[in-house]
Amino acid sequence: MKMYSVGSATGEAHSKLILVGEHAVVYGQPAIAIPFPLKVRAQVSKSIGEITISSLLYTGNMEGIPSEMTGISECIKNALMHLNKPLKDINITIRSEIPLGRGLGSSAAVATAIVRGIFFYFNRTLTQEELCSLVEISESHAHGKPSGIDMMAVASNSPIYFKRQEGACSFTALKPLYLVVADSGKIGDTRRAVEKVKKNHLADSESIDAVVNRIGEITEKARETISGGELRNLGSLLHKNHEELKLLGVSNETIDRMVDTAMRAGAIGAKLTGGGMGGCMITLANTMADGEYISKELLKVGASKAWYFSTEGEEIYESHLGNEGEIS
Ligand code: MEV
Repeated sequence: MKMYSVGSATGEAHSKLILVGEHAVVYGQPAIAIPFPLKVRAQVSKSIGEITISSLLYTGNMEGIPSEMTGISECIKNALMHLNKPLKDINITIRSEIPLGRGLGSSAAVATAIVRGIFFYFNRTLTQEELCSLVEISESHAHGKPSGIDMMAVASNSPIYFKRQEGACSFTALKPLYLVVADSGKIGDTRRAVEKVKKNHLADSESIDAVVNRIGEITEKARETISGGELRNLGSLLHKNHEELKLLGVSNETIDRMVDTAMRAGAIGAKLTGGGMGGCMITLANTMADGEYISKELLKVGASKAWYFSTEGEEIYESHLGNEGEIS
């Protein structure tokens, strides 16, 4: 997690997948998230003068940062002020493998890597509370009023069971999960999706509460099946969760088509993951080989990217039609 070179320090975070419970978690129900090993690294190094940022989206002085990155600049300023350091003389270089706006926790992971990098650079210990309160600044810019699951998930190396009022607790899966993640190629908009559900809730709280409660029950059962290793049951819970997310209006045709394709290709279960309205879907497979096969079937129906991995290992494989390669 800690990497140094002369005059610089690097903070790291990984991506996350919400296995079950997204959206319902905003209304106080539990959700389960697991680490997804795509990484982001933020290298903090010495420079002279104004803070500079180097990233795929923007390179230049922090003052000129585009509006979609305001949360990041606020997070950097607050981290430096928290450490009583001047708002100058550093450069932050962000390198990320996590696609943006795909429900994979990119915004929380970038902020987490930056905060870790800044604390490492100044050789200061970072508590979980400090990390959360600083990342929350960036997250509230990115998502409005998030439940907080993303920032807990990108900072955890094990699956978490999360409730808004109670926070996160880690738990272990009895058996490895073989998962496929496929990108619909369309940017999802978590803020807009959360607002859409909120608007529907205002219009018809009874129906939305019923969906939210059913998702909460699905999540409780999913936790039992993961802890007990009954993965076939987990598959049908993922599928039920997807049906409920459709009722919330956060899926779309592309994601639904990918879910159907995964099931026809032998998946145990499949659903959208994260905010939805675009973004990614996940699939639970019986074996790693099945995961590879399903990922290729998803590419054939138009997924822009597909990865498969086991929760037991650190490796993640990106599928290509024709050949594939390990990326970390
Ligand atoms: C986004 O990854 C998960 C949502 O439930 C929003 C949130 O919990 O803040 C859609």
